[in-house]
Amino acid sequence: MSEMEMKERFFAYVDERQRRYIDQLGEAVAIPSVSSQLDIHLPDIQKMMKYAANFIQRLGGQCELRDNPDGTPERPLPPLLLGNFPVDPRKKTVCVYGHLDVQPAHIDDGWDSEPFVLTERDGKLFGRGSTDDKGPALSWLWVIEAHKELGIELPVNIKILYEGMEEYGSEGLFTFIRDEHDKFLGDVDFFCISDNYWIGKSKPCLTYGLRGLAYFELLVQGCEQDLHSGNMGGAVREAMTDLIRLMATLVDSQGKILIEGVMDDVKPVTPEEEALYDSIEFDVEAFKEEAKVKSISNKLMHDNKNDLLMARWRFPTLSLHGIEGAFSGSGAKTVIPAKVKGKFSMRLVPDQDPVRIEQVVRAHIAREFEKLNSPNKVEVKMLHGAKSWLSSPDHPNYAAAAAAIQTVFQTTPDYTREGGSIPITTAFEEATGMNALLLPIGACDDMAHSQNEKYNIANLMNGVKVLGMYLHELGKIGGPKPSSCRCIPLTKEELMVPGAFMKGFRCKCEM
Ligand code: BES
Ligand code: ZN
Repeated sequence: MSEMEMKERFFAYVDERQRRYIDQLGEAVAIPSVSSQLDIHLPDIQKMMKYAANFIQRLGGQCELRDNPDGTPERPLPPLLLGNFPVDPRKKTVCVYGHLDVQPAHIDDGWDSEPFVLTERDGKLFGRGSTDDKGPALSWLWVIEAHKELGIELPVNIKILYEGMEEYGSEGLFTFIRDEHDKFLGDVDFFCISDNYWIGKSKPCLTYGLRGLAYFELLVQGCEQDLHSGNMGGAVREAMTDLIRLMATLVDSQGKILIEGVMDDVKPVTPEEEALYDSIEFDVEAFKEEAKVKSISNKLMHDNKNDLLMARWRFPTLSLHGIEGAFSGSGAKTVIPAKVKGKFSMRLVPDQDPVRIEQVVRAHIAREFEKLNSPNKVEVKMLHGAKSWLSSPDHPNYAAAAAAIQTVFQTTPDYTREGGSIPITTAFEEATGMNALLLPIGACDDMAHSQNEKYNIANLMNGVKVLGMYLHELGKIGGPKPSSCRCIPLTKEELMVPGAFMKGFRCKCEM
């Protein structure tokens, strides 16, 4: 079969299956696999992992639900899903990564339809996880299904690695990558991750950078249980008052981070870098709609395109997320909360080390709390941390994806960085020495993590085609399998030191 004929049959098959794809995405969205609420949703994540495992088995792939290596009897964690479609050991092997867990969602948060019922409106499929990341994760399986049904041999060996803890810091996956870098991952030549979004609504892009993350919980406790403010107001030093003061010392209203030492490792922008940003197509006005500020202030922190993109991609930011234990219901409740936990996080950029960031945050809180002269108890915890990732798009893996985009969209992709985090990207590259590509399918306005998350039907359909064509482009890459040093990254003992994975999986030969 000629390449042209193969492509036409593949595209026609995909087009015919649209209804079926939407129905299957609906089945996946209906499983509320919320990883930040394991106490309630662990069985749902397990169900979701089994759903995908059954799919792989139906496709004739080898499949294993591997016990989560970081799980314990006290804190069981969802399994990892390992799929394998070996075709020919002489062919290249791609490992595709995705996640089947989702962020929490409730209709009362302001959704226009039930978040766990995939709902079609105007060519868009609304539902939690539709774009992040169930749609893209299922797409790989649809690509394999199409090849099987059409009798087209897969152009590369495919390994599938899906997890159920991504939204909560990928617990267990770092241990897996360390233990399996020379086993399950041993023959992988390329990694491909489809878990981010286009920079706009219509033009595809390839992404070569992500920010890292340092997420903190700041506890202040004043008394043993909540008190009546009429009774006890004036008698006790209130935990909330201290916490709000501490939280206010972290960042100013212009977004400037006020923690001493945080910016020490952030490199200044070079003229070459500035030029790179000049060449990116990006509409600030359209972005205001995505940022949902249009009808409120119609203002962003930066009017200039380069400043705005750099603020999102290449400078660190600090966000205040919430307060656990505080009164947050509607109406008025005259309570003095006994124990409150402030949540905040920083997005990190190249050269910022989460371990060092933790130290400067602890020192800052200690200094500021001292100034409050409070009898209350304060405690800082870093909940998760991950280094940023910056790759070179100058790699055959990226060229293969660009060619696939050309075939499907008749355009060259933009090359972008992202402000979000996918911590295992760095781990894959450092543990195996192989290149990772971020190949987004979803659009900039998909509203991942937010109300009315959606996935455009057009993105779904074109996404399946692009992923399929990408595999065929990879299959054309000749030469020996790319080499890597393959040395053992970190020993088990080294990994058990808290924060070890955040230092990365540097090969021994580089240390
Ligand atoms: N799909 C996102 C990652 C992402 C978000 C990439 C925005 C690009 C832009 C992923 O599911 C996610 O949200 N990851 C978490 C990771 C964290 C819990 C370690 C994130 O970025 O908050
Ligand atoms: Zn995601």
